[in-house]
Amino acid sequence: MKIKNICCLGAGYVGGPTMSVIALKCPEIKVTVVDLNTERILAWNEENLEKLPVYEPGLAEVVREARGRNLFFSTEVDSAIEAADMIFIAVNTPTKTYGEGKGMAADLKFVELCARQIARIAKNDKIIVEKSTLPVRTAQTLQTILDHTGNGVKFEVLSNPEFLAEGTAINDLLNADRVLIGGNQTESDQKAIQALVDIYAHWLSPKQILTTNVWSSELSKLTANAFLAQRISSINALSALCEVTEADVDEVAAAIGTDSRIGSKFLKASVGFGGSCFQKDILNLVYLCRYFNLPEVASYWEQIIILNDYQKYRFAKNIICTLFNTVSGKKITFLGWAFKKDTNDTRESAAIYVAEHLIEDGAEIHVYDPKVSEEKIKADMRYLWELKGISEEKIKSKLNQIFVYKTAVEALDKAHAVAVLTEWDEFKTYDWKTVYSKMYKPAFVFDGRNILDSKKLTAIGFQVKGIGKDIRFSDKLKGINELVLR
Ligand code: NAD
Ligand code: UDX
Repeated sequence: MKIKNICCLGAGYVGGPTMSVIALKCPEIKVTVVDLNTERILAWNEENLEKLPVYEPGLAEVVREARGRNLFFSTEVDSAIEAADMIFIAVNTPTKTYGEGKGMAADLKFVELCARQIARIAKNDKIIVEKSTLPVRTAQTLQTILDHTGNGVKFEVLSNPEFLAEGTAINDLLNADRVLIGGNQTESDQKAIQALVDIYAHWLSPKQILTTNVWSSELSKLTANAFLAQRISSINALSALCEVTEADVDEVAAAIGTDSRIGSKFLKASVGFGGSCFQKDILNLVYLCRYFNLPEVASYWEQIIILNDYQKYRFAKNIICTLFNTVSGKKITFLGWAFKKDTNDTRESAAIYVAEHLIEDGAEIHVYDPKVSEEKIKADMRYLWELKGISEEKIKSKLNQIFVYKTAVEALDKAHAVAVLTEWDEFKTYDWKTVYSKMYKPAFVFDGRNILDSKKLTAIGFQVKGIGKDIRFSDKLKGINELVLR
């Protein structure tokens, strides 16, 4: 079966970049990415490639080459579904914020709506590909919805989870460690699997394309994210121990990471992991384990999230304690708001939760991020407070404690403390001597990413505190240190 026409439902961080790369590598296939969000589609069609809705290194070049040739972005969902032989579902699957499974289960309403829309529109046989991250056994639900159309159309449902990480998406897609395709064992399913394999085979070797049964594929995605996040929570747990024992977490990570059985990646201690995937997918895994009556397994995975929340809280508390037990009315400058460098995505960013704690203690939060707008930062905080049921009056007053700048120089002027929340490379290149001269003294730096040269900063006069590093500052601040250590 040769695929000529692909449609992707969802033009977000996954749908946009993955389909751009498929279109780039398969010029003979027409790829149409559709979304209900008109603004997003308009942005994908922007002539000025700097205004694409997703910032990813290398993405603009791929879009420049393929868009208008065989890559199209559109809001015409029905016609794109009708024309396609293969339909990817890459819509959002956030944690449920209401009803059964609230705060834990994945909200599958967008996926279900896609299935119903496909069932309604399709007039010829189609392959449906789950690209969104879904709970194990969702393919069954989709198949059930699709098989009840009564119009004789046949659907093959495949699982093809996406493993790209934001900030490196294009490289991850072009040089994937592996692509995973799950399907049933029937002859028609095997043909569908082969059709999808043929697409990836345009640029990946057969070794990189794994095929499994559909349930293993669905579960592998949740598992991969849980294992990755587990490593971060493990090293972050140890960072707390390092801080009270004078061990250095980066040295510990390097020492254990050289053991080839452990490996060196994903051992960078931080203010806590963020992003739209790790927390959501682990909560979903925990929910599934409870649903299948496996409480011990559920608690095991849940601890990763508990530890991550603790790490964000610990960072904020450390700032408050160090600044003489109050940050009320003090200017705390946040360098970075995105959940990691090289992305404009802020979903579940640690910055949001650290800001919340500090604002609760009366701080003024002054933010600079090279890719995140004031509108987005305020919307993130508003969303959190609304979810917590905070009154509109209080939200407005809290939002007045947030200031966002277009340059770091303005954000850092007359600050009491600097907190590094995202590991943007440019933060390392600042003229820290000048920054010091413009800050209140003692001038504190809380490096939530361990990216700054603490020796150099200490020599300038800063009081520097990294994650999992010796907590003691200069002798002059001994009293404070003891307070923090208690
Ligand atoms: P996103 O929110 O950026 O994009 C999803 C898009 O789907 C939105 O633009 C939304 O308007 C659109 N949409 C919703 N319902 C629709 C419908 N019925 N028809 C057409 N469009 C519709 O989400 P994302 O980050 O791209 O994630 C998508 C899925 O991929 C999620 O399941 C996520 O867990 C998974 N995933 C994400 C990443 C990542 O790094 N962001 C990586 C791997 C997997
Ligand atoms: C993750 C998975 O890596 C990817 O395979 C999956 O498809 C989607 O979820 P993403 O969330 O985009 O990707 O970025 P990732 O690089 O995994 O970082 C997630 C968070 O963990 C970030 O906040 C990052 O700063 C943090 N992190 C990562 C650490 O704190 N320490 C590390 O060692 C690695």
